[in-house]
Amino acid sequence: MIRRGKLYIVGNWKMNPDTYDEAKHIATVVCRSARSAQRTVTTVICPPAPFLALLARSRRPICLGTQDVSSAFDGAYTGEIAARHMRSVGATYAIVGHSERRRSGDTDTTVREKTLRSLEAGLKTIICVGEESRDDHGAFLSFVRNQLLEALSALPKKHCSDVIIAYEPVWAVGGNYQDALSPDHIHQMVIFIRKVLSELWGRADAMRVPILYGGSVDLENAKRILASGEVNGLLVGRRSLDATEFSSMIRYAATI
Ligand code: PGA
Repeated sequence: MIRRGKLYIVGNWKMNPDTYDEAKHIATVVCRSARSAQRTVTTVICPPAPFLALLARSRRPICLGTQDVSSAFDGAYTGEIAARHMRSVGATYAIVGHSERRRSGDTDTTVREKTLRSLEAGLKTIICVGEESRDDHGAFLSFVRNQLLEALSALPKKHCSDVIIAYEPVWAVGGNYQDALSPDHIHQMVIFIRKVLSELWGRADAMRVPILYGGSVDLENAKRILASGEVNGLLVGRRSLDATEFSSMIRYAATI
């Protein structure tokens, strides 16, 4: 693969683990590999918000990301978490538009607003896109294109350097590890996504946007995807809670 900048290994812990002690343990183990890989790999962990605030108290060779942000800047929104609050407690990344948030009601408009709030707060923003299912006629491509345009077309261009795209076909998220998309198909999607980004921002800026793959990544398929999927990294769900396996992904990424 043509190496373009650092690789990203991002762990999305979702609503896990049970306790802060467990979270601290996973982070401590992951840090060992993250430290040795940090010249070429950016490791990001996206824990539950309360754990993020606590983990951010110690200096670590990993970045912390929030799994979601509110679409509102401030105001009477009980229970919502503002992007700037997450920034203030130590987040430097945010995931928006995750399929599990979209399933809970986030529309393309909500994702656009969340993207803007997150970028305005100074967070590098990982925008998740991906089709629900695949068809033989390419309708899934129009679907992904539309998600990208909805999230990005109104964005001031100055923010484009803080955007990261995570391509996560919804059918592969939380599935069998054998169901992860093949490196060849991922490569095709990376080309397609860059084409859409080029239409928006021009080729030079589009080439600089990191594109990650997510959806049933484990160590085995991670190696294949990193080696020949032409991605700039991975968004890992369940397997990011296994500190040993996630650390191996980081170390493998450092060898590429
Ligand atoms: P998974 O989750 O790796 O468990 O499929 C991916 C994600 O939710 O981003």
